[in-house]
Amino acid sequence: MSTFKAPKGTYDLLPPDSAKFLAVREAIAAPLKNSGYGYIETPGFENVELFARGVGESTDIVTKEMYTLTTKGGDELALRPEGTASVLRAALEANLHKVGNLPVKLWYSGSYYRYERPQKGRYRHFSQVGAEAIGAEDPALDAEMIILADQAYRSLGLQNFRILLNSLGDKECRPVYREALQSFLRGLDLDEETIRRAEINPLRVLDDKRADVQKQLVGAPVLRDYLCDACKAYHEEVRALITAAGVAFEDDEKLVRGLDYYTRTTFEFVHDGLGSQSAVGGGGRYDGLSEMIGGPALPSVGWALGVDRTVLALEAEGVELDIPAATSVYAVPLGEEARRVLFAKVVELRKAGVATDFSFTGRGLKSAMKNAHRSGARYVVVAGERDLAEGQVQIKDMDSGEQEPVALDAVVAELQRRLG
Ligand code: HAM
Repeated sequence: MSTFKAPKGTYDLLPPDSAKFLAVREAIAAPLKNSGYGYIETPGFENVELFARGVGESTDIVTKEMYTLTTKGGDELALRPEGTASVLRAALEANLHKVGNLPVKLWYSGSYYRYERPQKGRYRHFSQVGAEAIGAEDPALDAEMIILADQAYRSLGLQNFRILLNSLGDKECRPVYREALQSFLRGLDLDEETIRRAEINPLRVLDDKRADVQKQLVGAPVLRDYLCDACKAYHEEVRALITAAGVAFEDDEKLVRGLDYYTRTTFEFVHDGLGSQSAVGGGGRYDGLSEMIGGPALPSVGWALGVDRTVLALEAEGVELDIPAATSVYAVPLGEEARRVLFAKVVELRKAGVATDFSFTGRGLKSAMKNAHRSGARYVVVAGERDLAEGQVQIKDMDSGEQEPVALDAVVAELQRRLG
């Protein structure tokens, strides 16, 4: 094992590509910040119990994919596999829901960990930006969530994504459906593991990707036929609000999510250029989660968008993000005296808010200019002994190639003027 190899299923974000990840995170966050969501940050790990109870004992995430550890003090912790349970835990702990301003609207951005079989688009360490609206049952809130995600993807220039929408019913109607589905599944010829799954979480069986299982599932009872009137009306209202906002979606009655806390509205954003790991984001309503982790009833809705897969989706569509060069000015000193003088100017430029870099270690003009070019700087400031003797520096415009002498005292103001 090489010391210089990132752990299996992980990768490093390095410049210049890392700028794309930052831009994606910012693009997803922007509509949230613009819609009343406040920023929340929670620890990278929580008590295992939180996820076991919240995400669900029968889910792959909890049974197979959690990174768990026992601390020296004996605490059982897990690296967070997702953000919703943590955010709700934090909101309950801080009593955010008692201040009276429900819903509590929060957004977050961070690293998540799942011990999955790595493949393109599926990693053991990945990054999400998410949003949760806690403590309100209002179809407009579900619609808001979906509309904001759509806006985020569109602001990035993505087009080939689809929104899949479903309702999973509530604690009134879902148990009835569950029973009906279970008795249907008991009549099928399934392997042991699937039979077990059918007993614990029959809805997940509908999600089985195997063709022979899917063939047997033809004619299975569908949840839509079992939704109670309240769930039906709620879902119709969500659909109407999204439609009125001009956001296209597809009804997908087979959409079952991999986490147990969902009720009513569930949705997934899929991108058609990504192969098997096509879900770029997902979410839904989780009216029972607060009670599942020991809190009061707090109907809530949220989503998380995968940053890694969103970047892959941009690549699949050939979208180039318009990322401005990090550096505007690059200073190249020729000689010892010039190094001192220009370094002082660099400090001054930076203080003035101009993104500036410097050619270190006194390299020659040719290799310094190569670095200047690589930095993306619009202007290069060059100074040699002769320039300094005359109290000036040269400013080179990297777009036009033109070079002009400017008085040393005037260089900061001149560059500020040129950069607007
Ligand atoms: P999730 O569907 O498990 O939902 O994850 C959301 C997104 O995170 C996925 O659509 C995918 O883009 C990304 N993702 C998940 N696992 C991986 C992985 N192993 N590698 C790369 N990307 C991955 C949740 O996590 C819920 N907490 C969403 C939510 C918020 N529901 C309500 N509020």
